[in-house]
Amino acid sequence: MYSRILATGKYLPQRVLTNADLEKMVETTDEWIRTRTGIEHRHIAADDEATSDLAYQAALVAMRDAGLAPSDIDLVLVGTTTPDLIFPNVGCLVQEKLGIKTGCPAFSLEAACSGFIYGLVVADQFIRSGQVRRALVIGAETMSRIIDWKDRETCVLFGDGAGAVILEASEAPGIMYSTLGADGRYRELLYASSGVSLRQREGAALRMKGNEVFKVAVKTLENLVDDVVEKNKLEQGQIDWLIPHQANIRIISATAKRLKMPMERVILTVREHGNTSAASVPMALDTAIRDGRIERGDLLLLEAFGGGFTWGASLIRY
Ligand code: ACO
Repeated sequence: MYSRILATGKYLPQRVLTNADLEKMVETTDEWIRTRTGIEHRHIAADDEATSDLAYQAALVAMRDAGLAPSDIDLVLVGTTTPDLIFPNVGCLVQEKLGIKTGCPAFSLEAACSGFIYGLVVADQFIRSGQVRRALVIGAETMSRIIDWKDRETCVLFGDGAGAVILEASEAPGIMYSTLGADGRYRELLYASSGVSLRQREGAALRMKGNEVFKVAVKTLENLVDDVVEKNKLEQGQIDWLIPHQANIRIISATAKRLKMPMERVILTVREHGNTSAASVPMALDTAIRDGRIERGDLLLLEAFGGGFTWGASLIRY
C-alpha cells in the first residue's frame, strides 16, 4: 500500500509586500534582496486572517479539485510554526471550518520550514498502516506575525501562505521513499524568541544567524539528496522535478547542482512567495501542477530544511 497525491491547493493572502516597500521600512535595497535571496515580493496576511484561514482556503481548493466531500477526509494534519492559538491546534480549527463532522483525528506539528514534509511523512505512515484512506496535509504560516520588522537581516526574507495536499491510499506507487532528520544543537542559530513555558516576554521575534544557517543548510541538503539518490539507486535524469523549500535561490541552486539537475527542472517560487516556511513546498508543488509543468507519472523530489534544525525529503511518483 502506498499513498498517492490526489489533489493540491494553495492560498496566498491578497496583500503584496515588494522589495521597494521594504526599502522604505529598513536600510536595504531591492538589488541586495534579489541577488542574496532571489526574492522580489511576498504576500502578507490581513490583520484578521489567521493561519487556519489560510490553511482552510488552500484545503478548499484541493478538496474541490479532488471532488471530495468533508466526510471523505480521514485525517487532517497541519505543519505550522505560527498557530492561531496555543490550542485548539490548527488541524482542529481547519477541520471545523471545512465542516468535517466525522470526528477524524486532526492535529498540527511544528518543524519550522520542514513542517510540511514532516506532516507528509506522518500522514503516509497512517495510510500505509491502513488506519486512514485519505489525509489532508497542509503547510500554513503567517510568518509576518513573528517577524521583527526592524531587523533587516530577517524581515526581507519571509512571507505568508498555505499549501494543501490530499493523499489517498493506492496500490500503485506514490510516495516511494521519505527521510527525516533533526539536530537540536543549532538552536541558537535560528529561533523565535518567545514561548509558553519559558515565559519570555520580549515578543515572538524570529532571530537568525543567516550566514551560519546558510552553510549548514547547504551541507545538510547535499547529504540529504545524496541519501535519496543512493537509497533509490537513481541515475542522473531520473528525477523529473525538484521541489525544494524556497528559502534562498543560492541554497536551491547548490542542491540542484549536487543532483546534477538543470535549473529548468527546479520549481522556483521564492521570487514571488519569499520564504513561507512550512507552506513553501506544497505551494511550489501546486504552482507547477497547475501550470502544467508537473504531469501524472513524473518523479518528484521534495525537500526542506529549517529551524530546529529539521530537514526532510520525499521521493514521489505523481
Ligand atoms: N539589506 C542590505 N544589507 C543587508 C541585509 C539587508 N536586508 N541583511 C544583511 N545585510 C548585510 C549584513 O549586515 C552584512 O553586512 P557587512 O558585510 O557589512 O557585515 C552583509 O549584508 C552580508 O550579510 P550576510 O548575512 O553574510 O549575507 P548572506 O550572503 O549570508 O545572505 C541570507 C543573508 C540571505 C539571510 C542568507 O544567509 C540565507 O539565506 N541564509 C539561510 C536562510 C535559511 O535557509 N533559513 C532556514 C529556513 S528559515 C526557517 O526555518 C524559519
